[in-house]
Amino acid sequence: MSSNSPDTDEPKSLTAAWITAILLIVLYVIGLLIFPPLYDAPKGDASSFVLFIGRFHPIFLHLPVGILGLLVLFELICSTRRGEQKFGEASLLMLIIGAAGAVMAVFAGIMLSREGGYVGGNFSLHQTMGLLGTAGVLIALVIRLMGMGRNSMELLNAYRAVYFLSFGIMGLGAHFGGNMSHGNTFLTQHAPAWIKVPMVNMEKWMLSFVQKPKVEKAEPTLEVKTEVKPVAIDLGPTPPAPPSSDEKLVFEHVILPILTAKCNKCHCEEKSKGELRMDTYELAMKGGENGKNFVAGKVAESLSIARIMLPIDDDDGEHMPPDGKDQLTPEEIALLKWWVEQGASDTQKVKDAKIPAELQATVDGILKG
Ligand code: HEC
Repeated sequence: MSSNSPDTDEPKSLTAAWITAILLIVLYVIGLLIFPPLYDAPKGDASSFVLFIGRFHPIFLHLPVGILGLLVLFELICSTRRGEQKFGEASLLMLIIGAAGAVMAVFAGIMLSREGGYVGGNFSLHQTMGLLGTAGVLIALVIRLMGMGRNSMELLNAYRAVYFLSFGIMGLGAHFGGNMSHGNTFLTQHAPAWIKVPMVNMEKWMLSFVQKPKVEKAEPTLEVKTEVKPVAIDLGPTPPAPPSSDEKLVFEHVILPILTAKCNKCHCEEKSKGELRMDTYELAMKGGENGKNFVAGKVAESLSIARIMLPIDDDDGEHMPPDGKDQLTPEEIALLKWWVEQGASDTQKVKDAKIPAELQATVDGILKG
């Protein structure tokens, strides 16, 4: 295009935009001081309001994803002086709204992480890149405002470089968040090999920076989440009155609470990943796509046990629960194995079961709820 169109643009008043940008930056910094991003947040010391806001993270994050994604296209148009004259202000507005959305998503994300159990490489990368990407977008916003104020194509080009880079970082960070919710293989599973191999290798390379050699953190007691869906629990033949501790069943009162706490956010009625549900005995035994979920007496053939035992950074991302989610403690794993080994029964009573001495304390903790 011919760029000899004269610079007729009056310098625009950007005061409102500057005020918004500065407010956003101040909010971001203060917010991060109040809710510092942690990599191993202690469980249970966040107020329920914080946790409530945290659950909005998956909603908030779509705003920056959509708007900042569209802005990439706009900025390509704006890279010519004509384009900038036509769409510069629209781009600025999108940048501000997208940046505000990113700030909100970051805070909700940090609050969500206060539920605890967010550990592992996917989480570290997701949080770090989300924070950096958002900071980058805020810096980009300042450079854009300066460029627009001075009508300087150089500054605007510098802005675009910073913006594209930040958006890239944010996008990669978002991907690791997706891995946390959908499993490491979600994006690559059906990819043709020529895409899959480089993608998986790149992912591994990135994860290698943050992955701890082994995530083996025994927690003192198992926290059984209270958000159990009452409908989903098959109470079977037990009477309505809570059974005395003598009458408690191994599956229902020891094994199922472990599955509920660590597996069934993804393997229940609302969400049955891999077509697997484990919210009742029958469904847990039936298994998912590949069946053989728990094979009585045969730990080696039980798919769930096999996937739990895979290393957390398994090459195919098949470890369960997915990296980044609340992991089973060694005691919980031992209990599941023990239960399968001695028959995977649903009628055996706790008092009749020969619970290995080293697991008794864990069982008592679970029974107490
Ligand atoms: C954050 C969500 C999430 C959590 C928590 C989770 N899973 Fe999964 N699980 C998935 C996804 C997604 C799949 C399907 C993709 C795959 O097979 O990797 C899956 C698949 C499986 C399968 C394969 C089913 C089949 O027949 O192919 C098994 C077995 C399994 N999970 C066991 C578990 C166990 C045991 C736990 C708890 C210790 C657990 N999962 C926790 C997301 C989760």
